[in-house]
Amino acid sequence: MQPHNTLLTRIRSRIGKRLLGEERWVAKSGDLRMRERHGVVARPNYAYGMLRAADVAKYFGKQSVTVVEFGVASGHGLLNMIELAELIEGETGVEFRVFGFDTGAGLPELIGYRDHPELWRGGDFAMEDRDALMRKIAGRADIVWGDIADTVGAFTDALTADAPLGFVSVDVDIYTATKSALRCLKGPSQAYLPAVSMYFDDVTFFFANRWAGELAAIEEFNMEHDLRKIDVDRSLPGSRRASSAPWYRHMYACHVLDHDARQRVRQRAELPIGAHHQFMSNQFLY
Ligand SMILES: C[S@@+](CC[C@H](N)C(=O)[O-])C[C@H]1O[C@@H](n2cnc3c(N)ncnc32)[C@H](O)[C@@H]1O
Repeated sequence: MQPHNTLLTRIRSRIGKRLLGEERWVAKSGDLRMRERHGVVARPNYAYGMLRAADVAKYFGKQSVTVVEFGVASGHGLLNMIELAELIEGETGVEFRVFGFDTGAGLPELIGYRDHPELWRGGDFAMEDRDALMRKIAGRADIVWGDIADTVGAFTDALTADAPLGFVSVDVDIYTATKSALRCLKGPSQAYLPAVSMYFDDVTFFFANRWAGELAAIEEFNMEHDLRKIDVDRSLPGSRRASSAPWYRHMYACHVLDHDARQRVRQRAELPIGAHHQFMSNQFLY
């Protein structure tokens, strides 16, 4: 951006904030990053995860990134992902490839206590109108139909370093489907950003525990992999307006510790402490 544009933008925003009040101005005129930080976006978990993916992609010199929603149901989340992809692409220049996974027929049959049979049953959340959803998507995302256990392998094999996986939403409710979904993180390291932002939908209700459901699948993934670890996202709330918000507890990151970028020192000039803080802020790494 040219310096006079930056100045003009700053003057405009200062006047706007004074006239409308900061929150109303941000909600009306702020960019997505600003709105996410002020807590005035519809699905902040997706906005946050996808901005993270774009920022991390940029930091590592990638122009495209892949994002995926496991569990599409009627498509509200996937349509939101598509809108966000278009917005974030405009604001950051990073392109998105968007994928959704679903049986199309709702939850498969549950197998034992890990699938939380006290809450769900097979057939829950069946897609209402597949054709209508495909019309709304209009080619802007791919839906992979079928049981994730059967489809995730080909998806993982097709991931490339050109558009590494950067954000994963797991909204399949049950343990068995989450176990299958997490297989998308088992490919070669260059198929991923060095840390992949993740959202888990079903980890905060009263019956949730580390021995069942999505949490059990995370626990087992971490035990099975020495150099791939799913941890809670430790960067939240950061400088966000709200020091606590329900969605913070759903955000995780898969650390790809065997990624090349995590083995060698990055090429750059040495930085004193203040400049390092600025460097981290400028790259949106906090
Ligand atoms: C709660 S709904 C998803 C809601 C959706 N993300 C939204 O934002 O509206 C859960 C979905 O996961 C899908 N699902 C669960 N297990 C699956 C599996 N093994 N393979 C494919 N889809 C599965 C179900 O079909 C169901 O549509």
